Amino acid sequence: MLTVPVITIDGPTASGKGTVAHRVAKHLGFHYLDSGALYRLTALSAAQQGISLEDEAALADLARVLPCQFVKGHVLLDGEDVTDAVRAEEIGVAASKLAVLPKVRQALFDLQVAFRFAPGLVADGRDMGTVIFPDALQKVYLTASVEARAGRRYKQLKEKGISATMEDLVKDLAERDARDIARTAAPLKPAPGAVILDTSELTVDESVHAVLALYADAVKLSNI
Ligand code: CDP
Ligand code: CDP
Repeated sequence: MLTVPVITIDGPTASGKGTVAHRVAKHLGFHYLDSGALYRLTALSAAQQGISLEDEAALADLARVLPCQFVKGHVLLDGEDVTDAVRAEEIGVAASKLAVLPKVRQALFDLQVAFRFAPGLVADGRDMGTVIFPDALQKVYLTASVEARAGRRYKQLKEKGISATMEDLVKDLAERDARDIARTAAPLKPAPGAVILDTSELTVDESVHAVLALYADAVKLSNI
């Protein structure tokens, strides 16, 4: 049986994972998994239901039956369009807090693996190459300087009319990176065999081409 090819794109926040993964998936006609959205949806759902970010058992129960759908670039929770609400910075921070909990990570495991179906999958997150798809055909670790990443977030927020200071964003990113790297359960790190791609000086187009070129080489080598 042929295995369905997977490209994993892991890395710190605002390194460009989502943008690049989405574009690569579109180019190849592959499915796309935004695993961070699942942690964000769990955080949003917990906030709506008044569940504490320290209540591991209740959060895992929530994650296990997360009533979410991904429809044409929109994220739905219990049928409600929460595309903008899940992207809020405070939900990102809450997501990174509950993401340290092993039972929550375990509860989201099957949901993520289920995204792998023909003709292929591009998955972005923190542990796609290390834990969820360790047999991925191409693993990429996308990174960029904290300054470049904070600048990107600043621009994204400004476009949405949300005010933020560079100082707060740098602090937020650094705290989130530290929590993702230091945790015991599936810490953020390059997967074995991952190619590290620093996008600080790359445009989105250049980043997308770099990942596509790596994948094309991997396909040639694997003879699939
Ligand atoms: O998913 P992640 O948090 O890693 O990042 P993103 O939301 O995909 O990207 C953050 C912002 O950086 C987006 O507005 C991208 O267009 C931008 N970006 C960039 O300016 N240059 C790159 N090489 C990659 C992304
Ligand atoms: O877009 P951004 O990089 O800011 O964050 P995200 O990918 O939407 O993920 C939000 C948070 O969920 C991250 O800060 C991680 O703590 C957590 N996460 C994780 O632990 N494992 C994943 N595979 C994806 C996200």
